[in-house]
Amino acid sequence: MTEQRSSEWYAGTDRNSYIHRAWMRRGLPENAFDGRPHIAIANSASDLTPCNSHLNAVMESVKAGIYEAGGIPLNLPVVSLGETQMRPTAMLWRNMAAMATEEMLRANPIDGVVLLGGCDKTIPSLLMAAASVDIPAIVVPGGPMKTGTFQGVALGCGTDVWRLSEEVRGGTLSEQEFLRSESSMISSQGHCNTMGTASTMALVTEAFGMIIPGLAGTSAVDSRLLENSHETGRLIVELIEAERRPSTFLTRGSFQNAIVALAAIGGSTNAVVHLLAIAGRLGITLTLDDFDAIGSGVPLLVNLQPAGRFLMDDFQRAGGLLAVLREVKDLLDPTALTITGKPLVDYLDSARIWDHEVITVRETPMIADAGIAVLRGNLAPGGAIIKPAAASAHLLTHRGRAVVFDTIEDMHARIDDPDLDVDADSILVLRGCGPKGYPGMPEVANMPLPKKLLEQGIRDMVRICDGRMSGTAYGTVVLHVTPEAAAGGALGIVKNGDWIILDVPKRRLTLDVTQDELNSRVPNQATVDGFARPARGWERLYVEHVMGADTGADLDFLQGTSGHRVSRESH
Ligand code: FES
Repeated sequence: MTEQRSSEWYAGTDRNSYIHRAWMRRGLPENAFDGRPHIAIANSASDLTPCNSHLNAVMESVKAGIYEAGGIPLNLPVVSLGETQMRPTAMLWRNMAAMATEEMLRANPIDGVVLLGGCDKTIPSLLMAAASVDIPAIVVPGGPMKTGTFQGVALGCGTDVWRLSEEVRGGTLSEQEFLRSESSMISSQGHCNTMGTASTMALVTEAFGMIIPGLAGTSAVDSRLLENSHETGRLIVELIEAERRPSTFLTRGSFQNAIVALAAIGGSTNAVVHLLAIAGRLGITLTLDDFDAIGSGVPLLVNLQPAGRFLMDDFQRAGGLLAVLREVKDLLDPTALTITGKPLVDYLDSARIWDHEVITVRETPMIADAGIAVLRGNLAPGGAIIKPAAASAHLLTHRGRAVVFDTIEDMHARIDDPDLDVDADSILVLRGCGPKGYPGMPEVANMPLPKKLLEQGIRDMVRICDGRMSGTAYGTVVLHVTPEAAAGGALGIVKNGDWIILDVPKRRLTLDVTQDELNSRVPNQATVDGFARPARGWERLYVEHVMGADTGADLDFLQGTSGHRVSRESH
């Protein structure tokens, strides 16, 4: 048996090792301290993270697998982020959750960790933590919920909330009917059942090698989730024995595979900031432009909401991620390994597509070039992104006049004003929503359309924002504009009536005013200062240290790894 990290706490006959052992002996047998691995189960179960509320049951299955393989499992509740509940936005707390988990993993006598996540920010924060501590780690994704129906129609949770609420505003659905759909929207435990951020992060995490191949996307109510959780428990013991830490097998090629997967599944734009942040923790060079260079020519092979029609249980039934990746195998890095020690590509040959309406073959893609496009220009010198698969084709090249909102509150106050000077060709600009400006970079970029245009039947417009967009949303939305307005970006000096040119094929986003005019403009101070300057606590630390969306919006001092060593004793 290899020397365990936990032995630094438990081995020996001195007073400190006595204390470490004695306080842990509440039911553990004496041989628990004979050098066998102690494994944390970083558990984001919480009643306030409803998408993760079932993870205690998952944790019990992981525990059983760890015991069976000779390890000692230890439940470690971690900061949990509920996407729908947290104000001002769960993203404000992603880095805090990552930092807290990182410190708990390092401070405690553990040799490896199983990461239990589900709702949007939970898997990213856990992976950022594990990458920085660099101990053997495996993710168990909590899985999507079972699909609910309303009036005989399947509901995509998230996506259909946006659709139904727009129908109410457009006058095609009564408020009473809208409210009646509420009890049907969430029909079981598990995370959102569209190809939103939670589904996307589970699938791309499998693509870059940190989940048992074939597990991601399995429903939260499917017995195979617990079966694979048990298997994960056994596997983490093997990983520790093999000393397979994230740094020993994750490479740039692993992220290449994640980006190819992201494009082929039509995944959430949020994956961009999360993958950049995780790569940053691993010290792997990954840039915004890599998403365009690697992913933009990848075909969309999945017909799932929000870009398409079906939902996650259809996706699994149709063959799941491995069936999709088999179609684009030639675009994957064949050397990139998974936690099993075998390359991802080794798992693809036996995969099959069982329903070609849900997952299509390479020859007949939903969209030929589906990956995220990275735009640059005087409005976004640091880059901005757009997901062409979720946009309207006729708006991908567009010139329109800006209608500017300084804050999300300003937008809500004026968007439905009958006197708002806006038409279908206008471009809606929302600023003050970046990491520093909000603070926390909320999912508001897919701002609602003006009511008077909805009533005219308009269902999409070009929108530009320095914030993010929900993975369940759709529309011609340019987001993650960098630098953000609050960091002095050009978004802060756009005026109502300015012409803006969006040219996705040429990857350009241009504020069409002269350079002299640009130089003469002074940003609105309210925009630069954001909605409120935090005086204390996490928000203050965050605003002072958060980086731009183009590098993953991590804190500057959290990039890279600090390893797992703790040199000082506690007593
Ligand atoms: Fe948790 Fe959608 S709200 S995954």
